[in-house]
Amino acid sequence: MLDLLYSRQSIRKYSDQPIEADKIETLIEAVLLSPSSKNRQPWKFIAVTDKTVLKQLSTAKPNGASFLAEAALAIVIAGDTEKSDVWVEDCSIAAIITQLTAHDLGLGSCWIQLRERMHNETISASEYVKDLLHLQNHLEIECIIAIGYPKEGTKLNLKTKRTTENVTRI
Ligand SMILES: Cc1cc2nc3c(=O)[nH]c(=O)nc-3n(C[C@H](O)[C@H](O)[C@H](O)COP(=O)(O)O)c2cc1C
Repeated sequence: MLDLLYSRQSIRKYSDQPIEADKIETLIEAVLLSPSSKNRQPWKFIAVTDKTVLKQLSTAKPNGASFLAEAALAIVIAGDTEKSDVWVEDCSIAAIITQLTAHDLGLGSCWIQLRERMHNETISASEYVKDLLHLQNHLEIECIIAIGYPKEGTKLNLKTKRTTENVTRI
């Protein structure tokens, strides 16, 4: 597990190689195994490989999402606000499980934050995506995980041990 955690890093540049269908199914299987408060599973996951839709999603917010246009897959993570008051926590756990599984499958990924972000001056990034994907109003978009094979030559920075100053042992 530590090997996986040390070697994972956000990947924002992808090759043109499509992701094999069985890997997409593994990602979906993994995300559905995420724990959730009271096991309410307050989420919807939308797996997108359609290039036109990926491009449209890449403009969900003005900064920090454009690389989605070059990704082979997006997993849109939406929280069901009617099913749980802690859907943010549940969806965040699902998001990181998606990223770790992607890394384990040899894929690169990056979290694109949409909750609390605006598409433009008038509509939120979440509203933009819900409109685009015809999602129900009681869903809120937490984030999108962009996934693809890392572009050749992507510099991999092996993480070094983190400082322990944020840890207290009692
Ligand atoms: C809650 C959260 C929101 C993030 N939002 C974005 C984002 O909108 N766009 C982006 O390019 N990266 C985003 N990231 C990726 C972080 O920038 C990245 O995880 C961080 O710099 C640490 O780098 P590493 O993932 O390579 O360890 C986000 C990460 C988290 C956990």
